[in-house]
Order: sequence, then C-alpha cells, then structure tokens
Amino acid sequence: MEIESNIPVEATVLGGFTPVGASMGPKVYIETYGCQMNVNDSEVVASILTDAGYGLTNDMSKADVVLINTCAIRENAETRVWGRLDVFAQLKRQHPGVLVGVLGCMAGRLKEELLERRSTVDVVAGPDAYRDLPHLLHEAELGQRGVNVLLSHEETYADISPIRLDRHGVSAFVSIMRGCNNVCAYCVVPYTRGAERSRDPQTIVHEVEHLSQMGYREVTLLGQNVDSYRWLASGAPERSAVSFADLLERVAQVDPRMRIRFATSHPKDLSREVVYTMAMYENICNHIHLPVQSGSDRMLKLMNRHYTRQGYLNRVAAIREVLPDCAITTDVIAGFCTETELDHDQTMSLMREVGFDMAYMFKYSERPNTKAARHYADDVPDGVKTRRLEEIIALQGELSEQSKRADVGRQLEVLVEGPSRKRPDQLMGRTSSNKTVVFPADGHKPGDFVLVEITSCTPATLLGRIVPE
Ligand code: 5AD
Ligand code: SF4
Repeated sequence: MEIESNIPVEATVLGGFTPVGASMGPKVYIETYGCQMNVNDSEVVASILTDAGYGLTNDMSKADVVLINTCAIRENAETRVWGRLDVFAQLKRQHPGVLVGVLGCMAGRLKEELLERRSTVDVVAGPDAYRDLPHLLHEAELGQRGVNVLLSHEETYADISPIRLDRHGVSAFVSIMRGCNNVCAYCVVPYTRGAERSRDPQTIVHEVEHLSQMGYREVTLLGQNVDSYRWLASGAPERSAVSFADLLERVAQVDPRMRIRFATSHPKDLSREVVYTMAMYENICNHIHLPVQSGSDRMLKLMNRHYTRQGYLNRVAAIREVLPDCAITTDVIAGFCTETELDHDQTMSLMREVGFDMAYMFKYSERPNTKAARHYADDVPDGVKTRRLEEIIALQGELSEQSKRADVGRQLEVLVEGPSRKRPDQLMGRTSSNKTVVFPADGHKPGDFVLVEITSCTPATLLGRIVPE
C-alpha cells in the first residue's frame, strides 16, 4: 500500500508469501498496493481463490494468473499501477495464456480505461466483487473479459477466513467494516469502496480466536473510520447495538496475551468509551492514529472534516488525560485547495503543539469526482506544495526523534516480529506505541514478548538490549 490510509504505509508491494493451495491448480500471483485494508482484501482474495482450486505463488514468472490489487488515493498510486501493467503486458508476450486481473480501488473508477488495454487486462474486479473472481477468471479463460465493479451495501466477507500473506505469522489484519460514509472533500475512498457497513461482531471474535490459536500475537482491527462501527442484529432492540468500544472490549478479552491495535480513528468520532476501554485492557496497544490533515480551521472546513483545530486539540488532551503514554500519530496533507502560508503555518504549529510521534505526510493530489475536484480549484502551485511538504516532513522528523529520545533509558515490552532488515543478525519488534526496536536476539524468536532496555535511537528506530529475566 504504498500502504496508506488507515495507518497509511506508503508503497507496499506484497507478493512474498509462502506458496499454498492446491498444488495442481493454476497458480495465482498477487501484488498489493494501497492501505492495510487492501492487504487484508488480498488475503480474502487468496482465500476465495484457493477454495476454488487455485494455488498461490510469489514468483510472477510461474503464475497462470497475475492479480494487482490497486489504490486510487493519489495520482502517484495510480501511476505506479499503470507502470506495473506495462510489465504484465511484457510478461503476457513471453507467456501467452497468462490472465491478468486488476482488483481494488482503481477498478471501478477506471474500468473503461483498463479495458482499453485489451491485450493486457482480462479481468476487472472492484472491492466488493471478490466472491465473483473464480467466475470472472473462468469467463476470461473462455476468451471473454470478466468484469464486476458493482459496489454493495452488504458485503463484508464476514464468513471468509483470509489466508495470511504476512511473512512472520505474528501480526494479522482483521477487517471490521468496509466503505466510508464521510465525504472528506479530497478523498476518493467513498467512491471506490462505497457505503459504510459493519461486520457481524461474532465473526470478528471468531476470527481473532482462530488467529490466537494459530499463534498470532497481534491483531489490527481495520476500518476507514472504526469509531462509526455499529452492529445491530436485525429485529434486535436499539440497546443491544454493538459500538466500536464494545467490539474492542470483546476482542481484547479473547486472549490477554494478544495485542490489539486498530485504525483509523476519526477526530470527530473517537469516543471517550474507546479511550476508557484502552485504559482498562493491558493488551490494547497505547497508540491512536488520528489523522488531522490540517491545523487551519478554514482548511478543515473546506475539507469537510467536521472538527476544528481546537476540537482536535481537545481530543488529544482528553486522550492524554486518561492515557498519558499513548502515542498519537497522524496524516497531514500539504497544499490543499486555496491553502495560504498562514494555513500552512497553522498546520506546523499544531504539529508542534501536539508533538506527534509519527506522521504520514502527503502533497494534495486532486482526485476526479471528489467534492474538491468538482467545486474548488487545485490552485496551490506544485512547487509550493513540495516546499510546504518538505517543511512538514522536516518538522515531523524532529518531533519523531524527540519522541524516540524520550524512550531512551526506559524498559519497554516488545513483540518480536522477525530479523531486522538492515541488521539480519538482530531482531526487530514493536513497542505498544508502535515504535520499531532493533536488538540482539539472545535466543528469542518471532512471536516472543521481550522486555527491552532502550539504549539509543536513530531517526527511525529505537535500539536496545533485552533485559535478562
Ligand atoms: N491527496 C493527498 N492525500 C490524500 N489523502 C487522502 N486523499 C488524498 C488526496 N487526494 C491522505 C489523507 C488520508 C490518507 C490516507 O491519505 O491524509 O488520511
Ligand atoms: Fe486503501 Fe483504496 Fe484508499 Fe488506496 S484508495 S488507501 S487502497 S481504501
């Protein structure tokens, strides 16, 4: 995703899973861009296709079916996908008969353009159409193009057990809802993923129980706006409605040795109950991702965010009153329509005031059909956007480092995820506040909880050593 939104993690290409599934069936290769939700969707797709007799491969050259799960959030996310389609076109020239499918957020938006790539794209499937994939692929095998980009009001894939595509078997994503009912002026998600719907809590709890039995030690509950999660069984009285705080509590009770994370929270909806639930359960991580987007009231109004600068600061104060150690991370957009230097300064001063532990920072990118594209001029020159973004990134660099320096000398519980990428002889894990820690292994392995004394830090990482038991 480019993993973004919902704890945006820029640019993740996911294709590195252990090959599974029917060894004789056609082999599927999946590449994933976008947010954590998209990673989880690819896991749902893997499950649907293996049930239908397909196998999975992480080697594109051995694949019979190549799928790309796409993101539409910014223009550069889409540009990257078009680039990959050129690569797939070349692959098809070398291996005629390979089927290529485009999934996810670009599918609905760009169906026509995708289908114009007649010789490359065989299947187009939107985020709510994955159950239809075996049928669409079958159609494509018969020489017709398989297309389904219909959005649904009900689909939550509640009954599907995603096939986990992560490498270490430690941390898993669990979707609790799909779609989005907010209309942030800049955002394409409501158009690509459709209306908001919540998933039956019973199926969520079962999935988490199953993950715990499989040895997973952490789950991240995913939704575009988790605070608006709401489940009411049909015909049941209002008072039996399950809120996000209720769900969080149920999930936290599944296994006290399982860490619980969630993303993304919306500043207008984050409830006191959620914060109190976090305080009540040791295993709910001390971290809230609370995208602010801008520190200027004028921008927030234009963005249709439904909170003010002061409202946001009040939320942060309320969180810190109950959870003094809670990490707060955010998303910031530089150069939204009509943004002035004064608006930009307000964003910078808010960032300083909050002291975010980490941020995902973006240049505004106009998306077709959004409220901003329809009503406002994208009038901040690209050079100005770039300069403001650079200032924001530099400031956040200082804030992130401050936040890490404050941990030096502390002893923190770390969940081991695997070998450090840069120093394979050492282990990498995360603190409850979601900071990365690198330390000598001392015989520990992925999935272990260890107490680490933080001895120093780099701009991106905490370094430490295990405290002997
Ligand atoms: N341009 C730039 N950034 C955007 N985001 C969403 N839409 C856009 C856009 N059109 C950012 C927001 C959001 C994150 C996932 O991506 O900061 O929180
Ligand atoms: Fe995720 Fe789709 Fe949004 Fe990209 S556009 S961040 S894939 S929901």
